[in-house]
Amino acid sequence: MSAQIEVVVGDITELEVDAIVNAANKQLKGGGGVDGAIHRAAGPGLLEDCRRLNGCETGDVKVTGGHDLPASWVIHAVGPVWGGDKEEKDRLLAACYTTALRKAEGLGCASIAFPAISTGVYGFPGDRAARVAVKALRATLPDCGSIEKVVLCCFSEESATHHRVALEQ
Ligand code: APR
Repeated sequence: MSAQIEVVVGDITELEVDAIVNAANKQLKGGGGVDGAIHRAAGPGLLEDCRRLNGCETGDVKVTGGHDLPASWVIHAVGPVWGGDKEEKDRLLAACYTTALRKAEGLGCASIAFPAISTGVYGFPGDRAARVAVKALRATLPDCGSIEKVVLCCFSEESATHHRVALEQ
């Protein structure tokens, strides 16, 4: 049976799940938005771990422990910056969701929460990003037997609506 996908509005750093996904940058050096919130909540050990990872390519992920977060793992995903070749940006965003989910499966996680990757500083349109996210998750979940619950953690009602609409399609 495929996992349940649920939409919540809230702060991803507070979620009691096995893994949370970060919307990171290629340098994995921390930043604003959800990245800043995760680093603040996890404590300085997270940045120390990130420094050892040698960066991350767009569309790919790297894993650290959760440090002071309720989550055991942080899966740092680097989303695309919106603009230029839109189909290529869709492909890179989908890769973030697919790769993060497979990584969580490899870690034996039962639950994982995603923020709306690329929809803040990186400027990806929220409705389009939600459709890409839901499509990628639905395509990958059947291969990820350990995953029982996927939380789409939105920071605004508008973002939650984008994801609910995408899930209804
Ligand atoms: N919990 C959940 N979602 C959050 C939180 C939070 N605490 N804080 C912000 N968000 C939401 C934003 O509202 C947005 O919808 O996360 C989504 C992604 O926005 P950004 O954090 O700006 O991420 P992104 O667009 O992928 O840009 C990444 O921003 O902070 C830098 O280091 C980061 O350079 C990288 C870039």
